[in-house]
Amino acid sequence: MSYHEPVMLQECIEGLNIQPDGVYVDVTFGGGGHSKAILERLGKQGVLLAFDQDQDAGVNRINDSRFTLINDNFRNMFEQLQKRNNIPVNGILADLGVSSHQFNEAARGFSIRFEHELDMRMDNSSGITALEILNTYSEKN
Ligand SMILES: C[S@@+](CC[C@H](N)C(=O)[O-])C[C@H]1O[C@@H](n2cnc3c(N)ncnc32)[C@H](O)[C@@H]1O
Repeated sequence: MSYHEPVMLQECIEGLNIQPDGVYVDVTFGGGGHSKAILERLGKQGVLLAFDQDQDAGVNRINDSRFTLINDNFRNMFEQLQKRNNIPVNGILADLGVSSHQFNEAARGFSIRFEHELDMRMDNSSGITALEILNTYSEKN
């Protein structure tokens, strides 16, 4: 089963209007489909930085010297790019939402197709599960 099929690939790439020597950011790397298409259009000096807060996405890391995968929430994008001297950037792609992988893995606790405890954390290395929230939060909070 594929990790994730990129959606509206052509439209996203057209919208980015990629400059071959530009700096681009894919803030939702997932299966890397959009990132691969960006890299195909970048020249030797081009740079692509990608974010995913889910460690599982690391299996799709692209072996290319122009590419960096950052395992972090993209809310930290500014600090992450600043420390790598990658500001300003030419374009940012955000394919927001959940990956097929997250729905298809029972242990991630996203899907009602499987008998498994609710979890629903995109970054399951920290934080609390949906199960804990449902069982411990009061209606007011
Ligand atoms: C719809 S998928 C992206 C699929 C990707 N464009 C592709 O071609 O395979 C969304 C991905 O973004 C990640 N994600 C969602 N919100 C995020 C956030 N705030 N920071 C970092 N990653 C996030 C999820 O873990 C998931 O892997």
